[in-house]
Amino acid sequence: MTGNVTLTFPPDFIWGAATAAYQIEGAASADGRTPSIWDTFSHTPGRTAGGDTGDVAVDHYHRFRDDVALMSDLDLGAYRFSVSWPRVQPTGRGPAVQRGLDFYRALVDELLEKGITPALTLYHWDLPQELEDAGGWPHRDTAYRFAEYAALVGEALGDRVGTWITLNEPWCSAFLGYAAGVHAPGRTDPAASLRAAHHLNLAHGLATSELRRVLPARAEVGISLNPATVRPRTPSEADRDAARRIDALATRVFTGPLFHGRYDADLLDDTARLTDWSFVRDGDLELIKQPLDLLGLNYYTPSLVSATDAEGSARERRDGHGARDHSPWPAADRVAFHQPPGERTAMEWSVDPTGLYDLLQRFSRELPGLPLLITENGAAYDDKPEPDGSVHDPERIAYLHCHLEAVHAALRDGANIRGYFLWSLLDNFEWAYGYEKRFGAVYVDYATQQRTPKSSALWYAQVARTGRLRE
Ligand code: NOJ
Repeated sequence: MTGNVTLTFPPDFIWGAATAAYQIEGAASADGRTPSIWDTFSHTPGRTAGGDTGDVAVDHYHRFRDDVALMSDLDLGAYRFSVSWPRVQPTGRGPAVQRGLDFYRALVDELLEKGITPALTLYHWDLPQELEDAGGWPHRDTAYRFAEYAALVGEALGDRVGTWITLNEPWCSAFLGYAAGVHAPGRTDPAASLRAAHHLNLAHGLATSELRRVLPARAEVGISLNPATVRPRTPSEADRDAARRIDALATRVFTGPLFHGRYDADLLDDTARLTDWSFVRDGDLELIKQPLDLLGLNYYTPSLVSATDAEGSARERRDGHGARDHSPWPAADRVAFHQPPGERTAMEWSVDPTGLYDLLQRFSRELPGLPLLITENGAAYDDKPEPDGSVHDPERIAYLHCHLEAVHAALRDGANIRGYFLWSLLDNFEWAYGYEKRFGAVYVDYATQQRTPKSSALWYAQVARTGRLRE
């Protein structure tokens, strides 16, 4: 029978939603928190749409109990959140601030009480400003500071949090932050962005060892990457080579050292005019390649590239991250990016679930046996409340539906996928795009902070409750 198929997910499949501290918490100077690079950046004129900042955001810091109740109403099995480093360790050094840790402890207790499994991200882009002033991610010491912070949080919450993600999308931290300058700290130094990438890898490795030391043996440790699903525009050798370059700079610059203990030769060659990579010290690759319990994958849209002779054509919108004047791709200036055909979200990102399927297959093959966790997937649309206050977002339902079909197909074809976290639970501060871009399954009226589950939230709750997707 056609038209009436139900896709059933494994009974222990995790259904969750994700957020990040700076995007939702607000309370930017409460309880000893000091500025992070995102406070500084968002308060710098011209950096974010409308001058938006995370000062108040969706006030989750004060409303977390209600937000957890909402998650429970939506039958979520898991919640991925991040810890704000400057809330816990304001200068990026020294002892933890108890009030900062207390907030996360209270949040986790609330989750556990409602039967929601917490997944904690240690770094979702909010570096303490003092550490940026000391050199930021291009500076090696930042990696050691991160490991120390990881140990503090691990010691405080290890008894109640079982899933630990070291870094979220280090590609964005390194390349949007230090090459394109569209994310904090807003620097445009391609050579520094490669140093940043290495030190983020090192930070992950050092933090993972610290977490292993302080966490109970049953705790799981992983990292969330946003590998590019990059496709050549034509099968020509030149276009395939353009795709290879981007794959090296988007994905293998992280997966190479993390999983294989090396930076690939083509990456070193492609970037040779910027750096000799002498910042990679003896022993670093061994420190970085720590055995992991899971790989987190964040997926939104694929990239379509071609080779070009035109200098500077890499000034594109990589995944719509808004890079214009400076490329986020060090040494890939002979690559052009194209808008794939078909439907787009409000970010202008094309809707293409085959990219998610391909990613899941790729890493299942490359890392046999390593559980994969989709730590983010979702879409922004221009949601508007009806006169009665309800919010209907059929496009988001369609987006989620087709991506979950892709997850199901990948599972059927043997991928080891543990679960799926929708980005995002709530509308929130979408970085340089400010509050204009709404990714939430729950609508937030920013004037009143009122939360209203969109129709997609109710739809997702039904999927989470039953583990089934109806065609
Ligand atoms: C990835 C990031 O981790 C998250 O913070 C962001 O809001 C979403 N992508 C959407 O752009």
